[in-house]
Amino acid sequence: MEKKIVVLAGDGIGPEITSAAVEVLKKTAEKYGHTFVFDDRYMGGCAIDKFGVPLPDETVTACKAADGVLLGAVGGPKWDSQPAENRPEKGLLGIRSALGLYANLRPAVIYPELSDASPLKPSVLKKGVDIMVVRELIGGIYFGPRGTKDDGKTAYDTEIYGEDEVRRIAKVAFDLAMTRRKKVTSVDKANVLLSSRLWRRIVEDVAKDYPEVALNHLYVDNAAMQLVKDPSQFDVLLCPNMFGDILSDEASQITGSIGLLPSSSLGTCKAGLFEPIHGSAPDIAGQDIANPIATVLAAAMMLDNMELRTEARAVEKAVAKTIADGWRTPDLGEGKRVGCREMGIIIADNIR
Ligand code: IPM
Ligand code: MG
Repeated sequence: MEKKIVVLAGDGIGPEITSAAVEVLKKTAEKYGHTFVFDDRYMGGCAIDKFGVPLPDETVTACKAADGVLLGAVGGPKWDSQPAENRPEKGLLGIRSALGLYANLRPAVIYPELSDASPLKPSVLKKGVDIMVVRELIGGIYFGPRGTKDDGKTAYDTEIYGEDEVRRIAKVAFDLAMTRRKKVTSVDKANVLLSSRLWRRIVEDVAKDYPEVALNHLYVDNAAMQLVKDPSQFDVLLCPNMFGDILSDEASQITGSIGLLPSSSLGTCKAGLFEPIHGSAPDIAGQDIANPIATVLAAAMMLDNMELRTEARAVEKAVAKTIADGWRTPDLGEGKRVGCREMGIIIADNIR
């Protein structure tokens, strides 16, 4: 099969981790007789440097025509002085929005061999961690009315949700729960926010179509606490945009390293966007010490979305074998030390 894959390497460690993932994808194509055509495009700080804007039109056009988009990370101190509307992150928010990617899936699972890297006690981890954060991605406070007034002395952002926006993301969460342990925990702040009351009402309405799925609601502060107290209680965690941003970072630490967690962003465009949940880590960029596993696992999620399921499982198994064999980038603690590039090569060699 031939697939067109746009690669948005981005900034910081982005180019290193995406090239490790491309290495793994090339090996997968070779083993399974596919042709993957890679198309490198600019988004984020690198696009500001080259085009003056974080999201050039030609990048959006290329992504819309692709079968999948693999993204590294964007941002860094170099662009801190850019006006808010021209920051690298605006490129990321812009492409999510331009492609209509409203559903962001962030699985957090623990590899038994890496449980030492988790800050939680073995007694807390022993019941297992297998959480799917379903984050609404193109609404809420990230995209609500905002501005400054009083000559810049006051600034505001607005959390805003419409019924349809909540309904479509809730459906994604319930559909996923049906393929998992049939439990949805919806996160809100309904004791304070009107937008959360609407969120809760619509989630309850959607739940009526899924009688087999158990639904509960948690206020976001309680959810943050419960995640570290007993992560095993969660199956699907359904969150508005900003709460999902925060809780998915927390969930990643429970698994040991933020360098392990992939995410997929899906919606109305054929091409989903697949990226690690971590940032561009400018402090370690160019040193070949970044962990490419999250990006490699994001590539596996992309293969899944292209309905190349056997291939996706092969990549996941190659990652698991690499970890079981003891290969570790510095963020994963003690073990056979490897850099980013070598980790990519070892994973690729483990594709069977
Ligand atoms: C993420 C990131 C982004 C977000 C930033 C870089 C805009 O933190 O993907 O979680 O907040 O969505
Ligand atoms: Mg984040």
